[in-house]
Amino acid sequence: MKPRPPAGASSASAAPGRLRPHLARLVSFLIVFAVGYSLGLLSSSTRPSPRPSQTTIIRPHAVHLTDGGSNASQAASNGTGAAAVSSSSYPRSPPHDLFRFKEECGEPVPSDAVVRTLLDKLFDGESPYAGFPPNHTAALLHPAAARPRGWGSTGAVFAELIEEVRPEVIVELGAFLGASALHMAAVSRNLSLSPAILCIDDFRGWPAFRDRFRRDVPAQRHGDALLLPQFMSNVVAAAAAAAGGAEADDDAVSRPRVLPLPFSTASALRALCEWGVYADLIEVDAGHDFHSAWADINLAWAVLRPGGVMFGHDYFTSADDRGVRRAVTLFARVKGLAVRPHGQHWVLSPKPPRGRRGDDARRR
Ligand SMILES: *[C@@H]1O[C@H](CO)[C@@H](O)[C@H](O)[C@H]1NC(C)=O
Ligand SMILES: *[C@@H]1O[C@H](CO)[C@@H](O)[C@H](O)[C@H]1NC(C)=O
Ligand SMILES: *[C@@H]1O[C@H](CO)[C@@H](O)[C@H](O)[C@H]1NC(C)=O
Ligand SMILES: *[C@@H]1O[C@H](CO)[C@@H](O)[C@H](O)[C@H]1NC(C)=O
Repeated sequence: MKPRPPAGASSASAAPGRLRPHLARLVSFLIVFAVGYSLGLLSSSTRPSPRPSQTTIIRPHAVHLTDGGSNASQAASNGTGAAAVSSSSYPRSPPHDLFRFKEECGEPVPSDAVVRTLLDKLFDGESPYAGFPPNHTAALLHPAAARPRGWGSTGAVFAELIEEVRPEVIVELGAFLGASALHMAAVSRNLSLSPAILCIDDFRGWPAFRDRFRRDVPAQRHGDALLLPQFMSNVVAAAAAAAGGAEADDDAVSRPRVLPLPFSTASALRALCEWGVYADLIEVDAGHDFHSAWADINLAWAVLRPGGVMFGHDYFTSADDRGVRRAVTLFARVKGLAVRPHGQHWVLSPKPPRGRRGDDARRR
């Protein structure tokens, strides 16, 4: 590999003023030529290119958007190349990296060891429900609701998919007060299933959510929205209700089936991927802007077991604001999947088995 050409600006600054524009143009031409030449050498070599097994790079149909065929987009896809290409020839289409997400995760943890693994990794090996809630916390919370406020949380889609997939592990992105998580737990119980339901949420709501949901949430305390203890309190109430009004039994406390993962969706999904925690069913209902939904869907896909199903909320409602729908539609197109609208929800076709990717035929 050739060394990087020296930066053009420093040599040009020593030249007389009237020559500078010409020199700068000549130097950038030489740089573009040198980069193009080395790329040509690389592509003509017989060295096999690295297998694209780790990541998928989708090339958007945006080549026509880049500047006049200078092949700058090729150079710019490499950080080094980008630095050498002058800003005027930087492509106006997004770098292909925006389409690149990790697809391979760690060795799978057995489904029945998932909760134990997460208790160890996240909660010092202790159930967060042990001794919960302490009196001083209970005093700050709303009365626990076994059926808390939610949106579209009891849609038919939940029962339908749980019956179809019979999940052992469910991941939910965006849990709020636990309405849909507790509904999924109830549906599962009716089907004699007992999946681990992992609820990823930062439990802070969103800016100014309190304006509209004051009646449903506790008052904040020293800047803490208290949504995590309220969620947990609702989970405990639902477990007690399911146990026929008795206190939730010890087993339900020490080996909880509904487990909060109180982190941002991106960081939690990355950790699940690294630890080999996979889900059979994933519900996406977190950030509704395009970029949040796009990242959530892509990162979650990596921890969806082959044959598993991903679905989510707000495909047709005004809350979508075309963010979720755009992300889902783009993702389905990139992966060669079908989107099935279902009430307020969207459902993607099951994740294809390893090595058979729906998107292969679509890559160009
Ligand atoms: C851009 O580079 C590729 C090889 O990297 C080459 O096949 C293609 O013809 C080049 N396009 C232009 C417009 O130079
Ligand atoms: C891309 O950049 C790396 C250093 O970041 C360099 O080693 C590699 O050769 C570059 N590849 C191309 C095609 O320019
Ligand atoms: C918590 O409150 C209950 C009654 O509301 C009381 O019986 C119990 O002793 C209190 N626990 C602690 C640790 O203060
Ligand atoms: C579970 O079954 C009971 C009894 O048939 C029913 O009343 C309840 O609505 C069911 N719950 C869900 C969430 O389907």
